[in-house]
Amino acid sequence: FLFAPAVEVKIEVVIPEKERSKEEMSPNGKASPLLYKVNGTARHYHLEEHPIASNPYHNPKDVVEASVCHVKDLENGQMREVDLGCGKALLIKENGEFHAVGHKCPHYGAPLVKGVLSKGRVRCPWHGACFNISTGDIEDFPGLDSLPRFQVKIEKEKVYIRASKQALQTQRRTKVMAKCISLSNYNLSSTNVLIIGSGAAGLLCAETLRQEGFSDRIVMCTMDRHLPYDRPKLSKSMDSHPEQIALRPKEFFRSYDIEVLTEMQVAAVDVKNKTAVFKDGFKMEYNKLLIATGNTPKALSCKGKEVENVFNIRTPEDASRVVKLATSKNVVIVGASFLGMEVAAYLTERAHSVSVVELEEVPFKKFFGERVGRAVMKMFESNRVKFYMQTEVSELREQEGKLKEVVLKSGKVLRADVCVVGIGAVPATGFLKQSGINIDSKGFIVVNKMMQTNIPGVFAAGDAVTFPLALRNNKKVNVPHWQMAHMHGR
Ligand SMILES: Cc1cc2nc3c(=O)[nH]c(=O)nc-3n(C[C@H](O)[C@H](O)[C@H](O)COP(=O)(O)OP(=O)(O)OC[C@H]3O[C@@H](n4cnc5c(N)ncnc54)[C@H](O)[C@@H]3O)c2cc1C
Ligand code: FES
Repeated sequence: FLFAPAVEVKIEVVIPEKERSKEEMSPNGKASPLLYKVNGTARHYHLEEHPIASNPYHNPKDVVEASVCHVKDLENGQMREVDLGCGKALLIKENGEFHAVGHKCPHYGAPLVKGVLSKGRVRCPWHGACFNISTGDIEDFPGLDSLPRFQVKIEKEKVYIRASKQALQTQRRTKVMAKCISLSNYNLSSTNVLIIGSGAAGLLCAETLRQEGFSDRIVMCTMDRHLPYDRPKLSKSMDSHPEQIALRPKEFFRSYDIEVLTEMQVAAVDVKNKTAVFKDGFKMEYNKLLIATGNTPKALSCKGKEVENVFNIRTPEDASRVVKLATSKNVVIVGASFLGMEVAAYLTERAHSVSVVELEEVPFKKFFGERVGRAVMKMFESNRVKFYMQTEVSELREQEGKLKEVVLKSGKVLRADVCVVGIGAVPATGFLKQSGINIDSKGFIVVNKMMQTNIPGVFAAGDAVTFPLALRNNKKVNVPHWQMAHMHGR
């Protein structure tokens, strides 16, 4: 794998007169996806039907064309950021062919030129999302959007890129999606697709259906107060407003007719009658069901567990409440897991004191071994974090109902105004106990490689499932990761 050298590139900007054909410029390489109707028939739909991803090359004034380098400036396997005057593109040469796509990862904006180019794909250097260099399509996660793809031509040994100015600015492309065309037959309590859970798995499923041209009703329900958001950010930028970490804006759901029912908990699923029963008694019939309910964090089971100001970090409300209570106060974090250590890192500068209580000798021992764990611990200690290792909490003491002290089995008493618990999670599948859906002894929903459960028409995905992993000879595993939830949802 080669990394592109930093080279300055001279550019000439030319605005061409002639508008190219729309077919040629189709941004995702698919000229006309299928649109499915309620009765099962299908017709092709066109970009004009798509309200957001209108053809970016429609108006020649919106397009820029520039000569970006000589053909010999790039070796095979090299990538280079090139500036077109009103934005940059990533120019790639592989197997003698040039490709140009957006240069920033649509996930968190990493410079893709620092990523890895291999076999027609560029992999993001930060979290590993993968993009097809010919189409710009996202092929591995995390992230929702693809890269814009730009046209490349060679004339007199010079490489030219033709690009939409808007795409150069946004550096992202939402794939073409269908809308619902059956709203006239609207029946509040019946949907074609019901998705329980609006995390990464649920959202990816809804988006993929629309991308594939599915044009019947999709309803997604969640216990959350908010539209789908970036859950991993809760422990990394804890006082973010829910809108700042939203995965998609409100208008997106409206544009593509993806209905989201917030604060709606499903209490049971009746697979015989294809009905989900909500906690408030409301019932919804479905044709196909996806269960993507994630997991539920474990709580402490010690004496005093019901005192106030003890939190799991699961929602934006949990995270912002912890920050508020911890500012200039004493925080005890139970569990030196990824979540616990991220919270410790975030709070060190804000809290008066941060203490971490853990059963193991060092953090991350299971994942990275003792040496790395000890190095991490040292780094945190130099940032005022105190560790209490190989012990656990025996009691939470209160004053006027609020947490005051955390008592450890070792006998140590820690002053505490707020406590964050990160000691693992269990699958959020309790409501399926009587459903007939196959659940294993740990509570995970058992699915095959197509994410199908034992009940026809019922699928499951994300943290809540155990699935056959090809890398491990199809052994059933649970991988509670953001990326994996994306993959399952797709
Ligand atoms: C604080 C935090 C930080 C994390 N950081 C990382 C990280 O850095 N990297 C990483 O890979 N992973 C991280 N994770 C894990 C990652 O967030 C999960 O793997 C991912 O969110 C799983 O997605 P999911 O769609 O399966 O479920 P979730 O995102 O958990 O979503 C589940 C959805 O189901 C809904 N739901 C549950 N039960 C019901 C019900 N009965 N009725 C209706 N709705 C229901 C919930 O309200 C929610 O909308 C983190 C998790 C947390 C909590
Ligand atoms: S920034 Fe590229 S995968 Fe996260």
